[in-house]
Amino acid sequence: MASILVINGPNLNMLGRREPEIYGHETLEDIISGLIDLADEYNIRLFDFQSNAEHEIVERIHKAMDDDTDYIIINPAAFTHTSVAIRDALATVDIPFIEVHLSNIHKRESFRHHSYFSDLAEGVIAGLGTKGYRLAFEAAAEKLEES
Ligand code: DQA
Repeated sequence: MASILVINGPNLNMLGRREPEIYGHETLEDIISGLIDLADEYNIRLFDFQSNAEHEIVERIHKAMDDDTDYIIINPAAFTHTSVAIRDALATVDIPFIEVHLSNIHKRESFRHHSYFSDLAEGVIAGLGTKGYRLAFEAAAEKLEES
């Protein structure tokens, strides 16, 4: 059975309560439970991880090498714009990944326009809200079916 790991970075545990005019009203639990249903449909094992700490995300990505993760979907949140360490971890494990953002980072403050991840990602989805996670999951699942 193929496995997809979904990683969410800092402050995403506050979804639903955090700046709802930007990030919407759905919680992270809502997003993950929707992905669990999709994973069932595709017969894929879903791992999910959220942390507010950079080193924990780095360590979770390293672990992906040992738990046979086939694909990663990551919303690095604020670390998108700062973290060479998480970028290097993804390059280290060499597992294909899709970068997801709820908001359109290119429409927002200029410091959000640069991502340390996009040039390594297989795909980038931004600005489609929680639907972005479902689209990323479907794209990843279909790629895994093809391979
Ligand atoms: C975000 C965009 C980032 O700029 C921000 O720091 C986040 C969330 C998004 O999903 O739109 O925390 O990654």
